[in-house]
Amino acid sequence: MNAPQTLDDLISHKDILSTIQKFISEDKLPHLLFYGPPGTGKTSTILASARQLYKEKEFNSMVLELNASDDRGIDVVRGPILSFASTRTIFKKGFKLVILDEADAMTQDAQNALRRVIEKFTENTRFCLICNYLSKIIPALQSRCTRFRFGPLSPDQMIPRLEHVIQQENIDITPDGMKAIVTLSTGDMRRSLNILQSTSMAYGKVTEDTVYTCTGHPLRSDIANILDWCLNKDFTSAYNQILELKTLKGLALHDILTEVHLLVHRVDFPPAIRISLLIKLADVEHRLASGTSEKIQLSSMVAAFQAVRELVVSEAP
Ligand SMILES: Nc1ncnc2c1ncn2[C@@H]1O[C@H](COP(=O)(O)OP(=O)(O)OP(=O)(O)O)[C@@H](O)[C@H]1O
Ligand SMILES: [Mg+2]
Repeated sequence: MNAPQTLDDLISHKDILSTIQKFISEDKLPHLLFYGPPGTGKTSTILASARQLYKEKEFNSMVLELNASDDRGIDVVRGPILSFASTRTIFKKGFKLVILDEADAMTQDAQNALRRVIEKFTENTRFCLICNYLSKIIPALQSRCTRFRFGPLSPDQMIPRLEHVIQQENIDITPDGMKAIVTLSTGDMRRSLNILQSTSMAYGKVTEDTVYTCTGHPLRSDIANILDWCLNKDFTSAYNQILELKTLKGLALHDILTEVHLLVHRVDFPPAIRISLLIKLADVEHRLASGTSEKIQLSSMVAAFQAVRELVVSEAP
């Protein structure tokens, strides 16, 4: 929904945009390498630049766009890329543009072959490589391109764009709902738009609760309950109640742990107890990350609180 069409539609990365505008207007576009996390506007930026560079009817003959669904072996470099770069255009003197989206999926061999193709056709072809992980692009390719890092978007950058979409699509949203979307999408604009759209479609009104429910994230009230059970109930009932809630709402233990961890920082525990609890939670997280059983790790999380409660009791005068 609402993909940016022109460079002006793109928020953020003003410095990158103005640099590219300058290259274009001075007719000095170098080979480009865009990198950064998902949903930060890399693909949108190069497509909008291409739309500015070429008229619609010449677009297909001047721009070759390869993305993840295309093959990424050496054959694609020797085949489509080479033949596109090596044929000269009769219409226009300017250069052609090859966009290699998700270039980090290219094999080493393909990257090496590409480096030679880039060298050979620099006169009439420009390349734009796009990737999430710069380290997966071989140094020889990196050094032939001007690099641009697309960082995660800040809330200040995301909110106006979200508001624009909200207005256009007539979406009913509360300020808390907006805050929840921004928090959950962690700088990924695509994710924020997806959450906005799916919550609005599934629940009509976008609120903090509907956003959290729609994304399968624990609500703040769920987390407050979980902490309350851990601190005040005996082991078995705390464990069973959390398990029941977790199953009912389809929550992931990892999400629960992340939120519980935040709360532990806010609750007023004596320092020694807080430290011991945090270390235990970190251990649970570590084990979860290596793919262990959620049930066993859940009991371990509940046990961590039980152990801490015993400390509190023994410390009391
Ligand atoms: N800077 C931005 N300004 C406006 N919209 C943006 C911006 N970044 C992302 N978006 C929105 O997010 C969607 C995804 O952006 P885009 O495809 O450009 O991201 P990307 O950086 O290429 O991500 P990926 O690494 O996953 O390919 C776009 O359709 C657009 O709606
Ligand atoms: Mg992309």
